[in-house]
Amino acid sequence: MPKVIIIGAGLVGTSMAVALQKQGFEVSVYDKIEVSAEVSKGKRYLEFGETGGSLGIQANGMLVLDRLELLDKVLEQPHTLLEGMTFLNADGSDPVFRSTISNNLPDRFKKDVHLMRSHLQNVIMRKCGESGVRMFINMKLESFSQTDSEVTVKFSDGTTVTGDYLVGADGIHSNVRRILFPEHPKAEYFCGGYLGVFQHGKKVGDATLQLKYPLSIYMNGLTGSAVFAARVGDSLGAWNVLLAKSHDGDASANAANDDWRPAANLPQEAARLADLVKEWQSPPNLVDAVLHADRITPINVYDLPNLPKWHKGRVLLAGDSAHGMLPSFGHGLGQGLEDVSVLADLFAELGGVYADHRKVFELYDKIRIPRAHSVANTSRNASSTTFTNSKLREKVMRTMMKFAFWLSNVLKLNDVVGAHDVRLDVKKALAAENIIIAK
Ligand SMILES: *[C@@H]1O[C@H](CO)[C@@H](O)[C@H](O)[C@H]1NC(C)=O
Ligand SMILES: *[C@@H]1O[C@H](CO)[C@@H](O)[C@H](O)[C@H]1NC(C)=O
Repeated sequence: MPKVIIIGAGLVGTSMAVALQKQGFEVSVYDKIEVSAEVSKGKRYLEFGETGGSLGIQANGMLVLDRLELLDKVLEQPHTLLEGMTFLNADGSDPVFRSTISNNLPDRFKKDVHLMRSHLQNVIMRKCGESGVRMFINMKLESFSQTDSEVTVKFSDGTTVTGDYLVGADGIHSNVRRILFPEHPKAEYFCGGYLGVFQHGKKVGDATLQLKYPLSIYMNGLTGSAVFAARVGDSLGAWNVLLAKSHDGDASANAANDDWRPAANLPQEAARLADLVKEWQSPPNLVDAVLHADRITPINVYDLPNLPKWHKGRVLLAGDSAHGMLPSFGHGLGQGLEDVSVLADLFAELGGVYADHRKVFELYDKIRIPRAHSVANTSRNASSTTFTNSKLREKVMRTMMKFAFWLSNVLKLNDVVGAHDVRLDVKKALAAENIIIAK
């Protein structure tokens, strides 16, 4: 059977592994992550440590998870089903609701699912194990080379592996991308931030840790900072403190933390961040949620300049390595899941594992690049609205934002991105090529 080597065991890498293994490929996933000694190389199932915060998946991503038989398991995890998001001033005043309901889809996909990243990762990992995907850790890619018929990857421990195809799903700082397209600019640093998780409903002294809205963003127009806060199921909550560029002094202290390692000194970090959020006049419940976090992970936020081509020969990029985008629009993962669906469908429609990969990869670029770029552009625009830092600009931006949300709610614009069934893109592209789909 043709072999696929995937670099990166994140959400997109592992979803891609499930999808391609299902098509009949023999898939191996390699990740540089170092996990404790008892999890040995090549083991078929492993749990990554708890890391990161929460994330939302809209219908476009849920449709993909459903086809990979992952959605039921996702919905067994603690989660919240969301109809939209509330935008507030830093002090909690002036709430504006933006609907993200997917109107024209079956009930199962109408509301976004919001859950912990680590829970989602574990669901997909488990499916990898059940599907026979081989998983290798402590494997850092050093280089690769390709011929007309195969790709060979060399790891930093000296091991080499050979396969038919190589998929780079190794994130926004992708090494696969760096080697494949050395001329392309690096991801640009945007701002620093912190992800936190806490127990929703927990009593701490006189206070109860509680969020007022299922999903909200408190925007500080004066400093250009923002706090996202989300409930996850009945007893979990997560927040994301994003620092403005004016906090670069603070954020640059994070630069070593692109591995998303939780802060070692939790009480100290929690107290410092709680003070900061309090300075922004945040409501007391938000300050408490920060102060009493169970885990805090410093992060850096980057933006990848639009990449004009996502494959060369037998090597292809997917997820953030192809289109890492700012989180402001909340569609990065959804776009990665669309990559997974499109690549698997193209192989399926064009002859299965022995399909002509040149045609598959050419259509993959043709279908995915314009759409991902459009979403990345929107995210860039949304960031420039969110991270404003003058009082006047804030007022103007807020008025514009309200108008845009009102329009989006009335015209149901969310459906264009969030409620999109990416299978239709494949059908359309194949029809344009006069390729008849037998179904
Ligand atoms: C994204 O923005 C860039 C620069 O503004 C523009 O050249 C490009 O056409 C846009 N792409 C899409 C798909 O909107
Ligand atoms: C981004 O904003 C510019 C102007 O502010 C606008 O022309 C462009 O269409 C916007 N792009 C997207 C993708 O929303």
